[in-house]
Amino acid sequence: MSKTPSQQDHEILPFFDVFKKFKRCRVLEPSVGVLGFFFVTVSVICCFFYLDYRAAAKGFLFSSQSERFMWFRFGGSSEDRRVDFLAEQGDGCDVFNGGWVWDEAYPLYQSKDCSFMDDGFRCSENGRPDLFYTKWRWQPKDCKLPRFNATLMLERLRNKRLAFVGDSIGRNQWESLLCMLSSVIPNKTSIYEVNGSPITKHKGFLVFKFKDFNCTVEYYRAPFLVLQSRPPAGASKMIRTTLKLDQMDWSSMKWRDADVLVFNTGHWWNYEKTIRGGCHFQEGEEVKMDMRVEDAYHRSIETVVDYIHTKLNTNKTQVFFRTFAPVHFSGGSWKTGGTCHLETLPDLGSSLVPSETWSQLKTVMDVLSARTNRSEVLKLDLLNVTDMSSRRKDGHSSRYYLPDPAPLHRQDCSHWCLPGVPDAWNELLYALFLKHAPSNSSPHAQS
Ligand SMILES: *[C@@H]1O[C@H](CO)[C@@H](O)[C@H](O)[C@H]1NC(C)=O
Ligand SMILES: *[C@@H]1O[C@H](CO)[C@@H](O)[C@H](O)[C@H]1NC(C)=O
Ligand SMILES: *[C@@H]1O[C@H](CO)[C@@H](O)[C@H](O)[C@H]1NC(C)=O
Ligand SMILES: *[C@@H]1O[C@H](CO)[C@@H](O)[C@H](O)[C@H]1NC(C)=O
Ligand SMILES: *[C@@H]1O[C@H](CO)[C@@H](O)[C@H](O)[C@H]1NC(C)=O
Ligand SMILES: *[C@@H]1O[C@H](CO)[C@@H](O)[C@H](O)[C@H]1NC(C)=O
Repeated sequence: MSKTPSQQDHEILPFFDVFKKFKRCRVLEPSVGVLGFFFVTVSVICCFFYLDYRAAAKGFLFSSQSERFMWFRFGGSSEDRRVDFLAEQGDGCDVFNGGWVWDEAYPLYQSKDCSFMDDGFRCSENGRPDLFYTKWRWQPKDCKLPRFNATLMLERLRNKRLAFVGDSIGRNQWESLLCMLSSVIPNKTSIYEVNGSPITKHKGFLVFKFKDFNCTVEYYRAPFLVLQSRPPAGASKMIRTTLKLDQMDWSSMKWRDADVLVFNTGHWWNYEKTIRGGCHFQEGEEVKMDMRVEDAYHRSIETVVDYIHTKLNTNKTQVFFRTFAPVHFSGGSWKTGGTCHLETLPDLGSSLVPSETWSQLKTVMDVLSARTNRSEVLKLDLLNVTDMSSRRKDGHSSRYYLPDPAPLHRQDCSHWCLPGVPDAWNELLYALFLKHAPSNSSPHAQS
């Protein structure tokens, strides 16, 4: 049971605060002695449970019951003794291990102020009645994240390119970042899509430029990350397309020189979106009709990781891989009327997401651990958001992906409302981005 002083502080602090509060309303004189002491003790205990209950009622979330006192915070007071993630002592802190805390200072932007967002993510504007889902901040257990500073991020991105590559959940995250960054730019016309494409149009890629910073924030639609294209000549008529598990998506030539890359994949790696639609798996010239989707997924992740390690200049490009974002359909799937629209609070206990979520995560972990087991140094950072997002069943678009709320049986429990959960992923991206590129080594620092 040896604890460092700072760990003890975390545990003692709440008691101490409660005691201070109590002292203000205390009526007994110290001379009452034992009886007084007894009364104080009982009161402190009662007071403690009362405050604990109140905090829980207000919606504080703890990563687990046993850790709850470490999570205790009073009215957003700044008594957090955790080390700063960006400081040297923050090295090695697992920022993905933590909990969601209520924070009145959130959200970081309002959807009505952001024109760089699909209507499908504008839940409040589409009629979602509660705003709770916009108020949660991710708090790592062992360190403090820097507060998101859009100006600082844009300065660090000056003359650079940041690109998201992946499926529509990646697009969700990309639009979140566009809103987070654009919130500090007064002249919105200085932010534009370089080809003039509107954000609501479904395009293969979109490149938004922040003119004052000469930087671009880009999105490439590549739901499988590997190449989907025509089958080899002479293949059976059942085969409409194939996924070339050993080749990257065609868009790679466009984004490979970006300075920051954020990959994601997963939501299309299922039977429905592949084999059922006549899309089979191919390696080399061979179409593998018997290959299972899970094995194809594993193979594709190997290709992506190989590509990052051998074809990207990771001295220049900082590479992130965002892990699978869980879905929260309850009582069915997306096509059998599964729902999530009555969810207004995060999960307090362990989350009930489909096991597919963890097998998706495991595939990625297996590919990466096979490399680290061979003592290779990984050249990518994981945005390990699966677990944190699994606790946010309240964060999805649900019925509010349409201006008039959608019918009950057509809910979206995959994509996320903005502002919301993807903002937290981007705050982690921000923290890791700053950690990787400290100010003094920025070659483009300008005043
Ligand atoms: C954000 O970063 C900018 C640029 O480094 C700095 O001038 C500004 O004070 C920061 N804002 C806050 C609120 O820290
Ligand atoms: C703007 O950024 C691009 C990289 O995205 C760079 O090639 C170009 O030189 C920059 N332009 C100026 C004027 O610095
Ligand atoms: C806003 O930006 C646009 C495009 O860069 C520019 O033409 C316009 O003059 C700017 N407006 C103001 C008020 O600075
Ligand atoms: C990246 O940096 C390392 C160490 O500085 C160097 O050995 C390597 O050649 C560089 N690779 C490229 C592609 O520039
Ligand atoms: C990597 O090593 C660990 C510990 O030795 C082992 O549990 C794990 O299965 C290995 N992973 C792979 C993919 O071989
Ligand atoms: C990612 O998160 C999962 C679940 O929280 C955890 O089991 C795993 O060890 C983490 N992986 C890394 C590399 O941090």
